Amino acid sequence: MSVEIQKIQDEAVAGISTATDERALEDARVAYLGKKGTMAAASAGMRDVPNEEKPAFGAALNAARKAIGDALESKTAELQDLADKKSVEGIDVTLPARELAQGGLHPLTIIKDRAIQILRRMGFALADGPEIETEFHCFDALNTPDDHPARNEKDTFYFDGGKLLRTHTSSVQVRTMEQTTPPVRIIAPGSAYRRDDVDATHLPVFNQLEGLYVDKDVKLGDLKGTLEYFLQAMFGDNTEVRFRPHFFPFTEPSFEIDVKLHVKGEEPKWIEVAGCGMVDPEVFSSICGQRKDDVFDPEKVTGYAFGMGLDRLAMIQWGIKDIRALIENDVRFLAQF
Ligand code: PHE
Repeated sequence: MSVEIQKIQDEAVAGISTATDERALEDARVAYLGKKGTMAAASAGMRDVPNEEKPAFGAALNAARKAIGDALESKTAELQDLADKKSVEGIDVTLPARELAQGGLHPLTIIKDRAIQILRRMGFALADGPEIETEFHCFDALNTPDDHPARNEKDTFYFDGGKLLRTHTSSVQVRTMEQTTPPVRIIAPGSAYRRDDVDATHLPVFNQLEGLYVDKDVKLGDLKGTLEYFLQAMFGDNTEVRFRPHFFPFTEPSFEIDVKLHVKGEEPKWIEVAGCGMVDPEVFSSICGQRKDDVFDPEKVTGYAFGMGLDRLAMIQWGIKDIRALIENDVRFLAQF
């Protein structure tokens, strides 16, 4: 009996060694080791083997299974090896590799991350709000009455049902004060929308970073010191910053902030980067009305707010003269950062 098994084994191993592809190997595996294969049939013969020969018969079966399995395995490896060699035929693997183009962060992302990093170090926490806003959060709560020019349909993108694309991130001030109690110290980066004609300094979608600080006894000096420090941390200690009196409905007094822009080979010029001011008591009163408590009572708290144009900060940082470069996705531009 064991002689017969040896014969099966020899035949199988010989057959496997002549296989030329994976398909033939798989067929051989099924034919010899499969449930209905030759080895299964041979094992069934155990029944008819006299008891004293059973151990030797069993050992022969096991040895045959192992030998066939090994033959399959080494042939598989051999075929794989051949295929690998074939796949690189004619390729000079000693040639230097082609350089991979590596992506990078968009300049606006770099500026936003840096601004957030500096302001968080100063104790501001991140806040957020929707870009599709109610008129209440965008205007009414910010002391901007119905007949204010900023609410003109022509200047803003309105949806049916009275919602609009927020014209500034100041709406996040309102949302934050609705939900938290003083002291409040937040920054909110995000998109803002205005119906502007596209030119070198205007886009209908731009990026702002809003800030709000409300506490007892917050003063104009705190606002000025904070923003001067921030702008110098962004652009260097020698950066010139100027505050120009201005008007915003939601702050009193209000200012616009300019930073001196230096472009090589040109006269330095002031460029506006932010609006700011002390939160108007009317805004606090409207929040009190909304919350139905008096934690933001203008007799108890004061605060300052600011809104910066991140696009403008990027233009100053890198001397970018045309804001459109920030949205055109030209890799020759983007690869420079
Ligand atoms: N919301 C103002 C703007 O978009 C900026 C601003 C924010 C001014 C906060 C004062 C205080 O122009």
